[in-house]
Amino acid sequence: MTRRKYVVGNWKMNGLKEALGEARAIFAAADTHPGVDVALCPPFTLIGAMAAAAPGKAIGGQDCHSAASGAFTGSVAAPMLADVGASLVIVGHSERREGCGESDADVRAKAEAALAAGLSVILCVGEPRSVRESGGAIDHVLAQVAESVPDALDPQRFAIAYEPIWAIGTGLVPTVADVAAMHGAIRSALADRFGDAAQAIRILYGGSVNGDNAAELLDTGDVDGALVGGASLTAAKFVPIIEAAA
Ligand code: G3P
Repeated sequence: MTRRKYVVGNWKMNGLKEALGEARAIFAAADTHPGVDVALCPPFTLIGAMAAAAPGKAIGGQDCHSAASGAFTGSVAAPMLADVGASLVIVGHSERREGCGESDADVRAKAEAALAAGLSVILCVGEPRSVRESGGAIDHVLAQVAESVPDALDPQRFAIAYEPIWAIGTGLVPTVADVAAMHGAIRSALADRFGDAAQAIRILYGGSVNGDNAAELLDTGDVDGALVGGASLTAAKFVPIIEAAA
């Protein structure tokens, strides 16, 4: 099965209203590459304004609560993301798993809530450096996949992002062979669980992707796209990654 390449920017906790110009420039450049799906996930505060500035474009949240509403001060529910114009959400990013103590069960519940709200999901997995060095990276990530990926999902609205924690924001990137081995292992695990439907689930790579390394990473077997942090904040750095995917 041919899967369309998917290039997603995760702005993390960056961006004031003045950054909307970058978003407009990114989506304008993306329009010249209709074979690539491009999305931006700004902070919650910018989602509505970005949706207004770039109508019809794929804009997402970086997290959601597992409940649809309720007494959860400071949290944002998946239906609220959809309400302000988001069509996707990232769940289970390592900065939330580690920084906010989110478990696999939490991540699974968030993914289920997002799917129920009609959003597409990008569910992140990835190993810390110590696990990579001890040779346990694939087992670690497959356990995260087993525990955090919901049983009921629409493969067209579900992607996994493999983000080795030690590669995020460090300039370090795994070897192409290691990326291929990990993505192949995730694909096999999804096929064991979901059968043929697994072929439609996109598996993105994330961690220090930039304009120089994107082409090689995106050409690697079972890499269906990239989840990009720092290099997604400006059109100058992000557009070359979109071009590499085209
Ligand atoms: O979600 C994207 C991410 O964690 C990778 O960040 O800055 O290494 O591209 P960065």
